[in-house]
Amino acid sequence: MVGSALCRRLADSDCQILTADRRELDLCDSAAVSDFFATHRPDSVIFAAAKVGGIVANNTYPVEFLSQNVIMSIAAINAAFQSGVKRFLFLGSTCIYPRNCPQPIREESLLTGPLEPTNEAYALAKISGLKLCEYYRRQHGVMFHSAMPTNLYGPGDNYHPEHSHVLPALIRRFHEAKMESLPSVTIWGTGSPRREFLFVDDLADALVHLCTQADPPSWVNVGTGIDQTILELAHMVARTVGYEGEILTDASRPDGTPVKCTDVSLLHSTGWNHKVALADGLAKTYQCFLTETGAGNLRSV
Ligand SMILES: NC(=O)c1ccc[n+]([C@@H]2O[C@H](COP(=O)([O-])OP(=O)(O)OC[C@H]3O[C@@H](n4cnc5c(N)ncnc54)[C@H](OP(=O)(O)O)[C@@H]3O)[C@@H](O)[C@H]2O)c1
Repeated sequence: MVGSALCRRLADSDCQILTADRRELDLCDSAAVSDFFATHRPDSVIFAAAKVGGIVANNTYPVEFLSQNVIMSIAAINAAFQSGVKRFLFLGSTCIYPRNCPQPIREESLLTGPLEPTNEAYALAKISGLKLCEYYRRQHGVMFHSAMPTNLYGPGDNYHPEHSHVLPALIRRFHEAKMESLPSVTIWGTGSPRREFLFVDDLADALVHLCTQADPPSWVNVGTGIDQTILELAHMVARTVGYEGEILTDASRPDGTPVKCTDVSLLHSTGWNHKVALADGLAKTYQCFLTETGAGNLRSV
């Protein structure tokens, strides 16, 4: 999702884009990663690859989430340095911050307390990547830095019924409920937890902006700084999809952290603000969902 958004963002810019998907390069194969960098010698790298998933996938496969994410990040960062890459932008996630850190989340909360157990493996891998970039910058003076996006959504998202993130899961469920004329849709938990969402094309724009900074922060939150409750989000999705039935909550299901929202003052101080409002981003995302469903290539793996 992020890689495609970056290609859209960079399509008209004055740079040659080199991409590598899994068929071309298995990022967990460190030797192949070194060869790739030695052969192509890119000037700059935005590292948008990771094993990514929602809460169920993260909680069920911690071995894969830790080992694959550590291996591919470390292999790429080391190979980038060895091949003379001038700028490396690593993508982490706001999951790296402690479970109970003060809200909104500031960058200095990193490593100040225990992580959320359900995504600890993923967070540990992301912290390793962030730290390795920080150490390269400190020890070797290279411009290796990181961005920590909040929850993302947009074209190319994963709509797997169990492994997807909350927003694509809601889009799919409300769309199916509309198609099947269901009288109600029940969402997990009380609906009261507050969450923040960023349109993926906004993220791509922020990443390109950070790559133009002469002295960017070692890591910086990338979000909107605006949160809403899951119930409000469900109503927005229902309106976008055109679902007119009832929305129910199921308080017997876990809610998770009550509030999760980033403090984006550091990002704003670099001169970047988000542009796409949630309602507009949802409308664009639903159009893509319909196009992909119609073409039979909706991502659901
Ligand atoms: N989505 C979010 O809400 C969110 C929020 C915060 C941060 N992020 C971060 O943003 C970045 C991009 O996430 P995304 O949402 O764009 O995820 P995505 O759509 O799943 O993209 C990740 C890409 O990495 C590739 N990949 C994984 N393992 C690989 C391997 N061993 N070799 C080669 N390619 C491999 C995947 O290929 P396959 O499709 O073949 O598996 C996929 O194309 C990640 O670093 C993620 O942690 C995402």
